[in-house]
Amino acid sequence: MSKKTVLEVNDLSTHYMTSKGDVRGLDDASFEIKRGEALGLAGESGCGKSTLAFSLLKMVQPPGKIVKGTIDLDGIEVTKLTEKQARKKIRWNKISMVFQGAMDILTPVYTVGQQMKEPLKYHKGIEGKEAREICVEYLDLVDLDAELFDRYPHELSGGQKQRVIIATALLMEPDVVILDEPTTALDVVVEARIMNDLKRLKKELDNSSIFITHDLSILAEVSDKLAIMYAGWIIEIGSALDIYHDPKHPYTEKLMAAIPTLHEDIDRLEYIPGAPPDLIRPPSGCRFHPRCHKAFDKCREEVPADRMVDGVRVKCHLYPED
Ligand SMILES: Nc1ncnc2c1ncn2[C@@H]1O[C@H](COP(=O)(O)OP(=O)(O)OP(=O)(O)O)[C@@H](O)[C@H]1O
Ligand SMILES: [Mg+2]
Repeated sequence: MSKKTVLEVNDLSTHYMTSKGDVRGLDDASFEIKRGEALGLAGESGCGKSTLAFSLLKMVQPPGKIVKGTIDLDGIEVTKLTEKQARKKIRWNKISMVFQGAMDILTPVYTVGQQMKEPLKYHKGIEGKEAREICVEYLDLVDLDAELFDRYPHELSGGQKQRVIIATALLMEPDVVILDEPTTALDVVVEARIMNDLKRLKKELDNSSIFITHDLSILAEVSDKLAIMYAGWIIEIGSALDIYHDPKHPYTEKLMAAIPTLHEDIDRLEYIPGAPPDLIRPPSGCRFHPRCHKAFDKCREEVPADRMVDGVRVKCHLYPED
């Protein structure tokens, strides 16, 4: 039996209304995630990864705003929720997020335990000893000792803090967990350990996740599906293996060629010339055309429609339209 879809996003656009104009942080994003599936989100800095993540939690801060599209989270239309409804109905218990740079999110004046227990009390009315037991169970899941429960954040290492935050994000057993650069600030050894934890947890809990990182070699390890973003667009999405073995979009191709660990000859490591565009006035046609080594006239003139190529969805004029 095919697995149930837990999240379905259609034509989602989120813009930041600044005095200089509207920053098109995310435009027309569409995808779905099934139970137990991990979606990796990759792309250069500023391409809209965090904007997409915050939109899914209905947590985009002003001047940002969802301007178009739908987010169906297990039957709940997220875009229609008020702030109060979003807090009560979806955040933490249906969808949770480990924020980029999350280590600093722990408040110094409360113990780890006091902070972990908060969502349990708010959503399920669980307090006291029972809450403690659940928190300790989740600390254990991320390989942390129970005694950390009574410590203050400053008594923890960066890696331990990050794991406390991951445990807290999993605590309510949400359908979807978003991890936005969960290990960027950590050294490679701690990073590898946390990634292994996350891989194991995915098997144990069978929840769905969205992984965000610049590091494509990490995404290769943890994702079933991969979405490549450029200048606010999802320009390629499909099975992670298919995209790794045979990237279709010229941008994905370049991004893959720039991964040192997947490259045999380090001398030939490539990079993408130029920088991502200003999203107030993105380039005409395909937003990648000024940097694309395969661009032709049509790319400058016409926004490419999405098309299916060997089971992968690609937004590129190089391929025939469906
Ligand atoms: N509060 C804001 N006001 C105006 N523009 C914003 C705001 N937040 C984000 N943006 C813009 O929206 C675009 C997408 O930003 P976003 O943070 O989603 O990128 P990202 O892919 O998460 O980048 P990174 O990899 O650096 O975390 C960028 O052009 C960014 O400058
Ligand atoms: Mg980000």
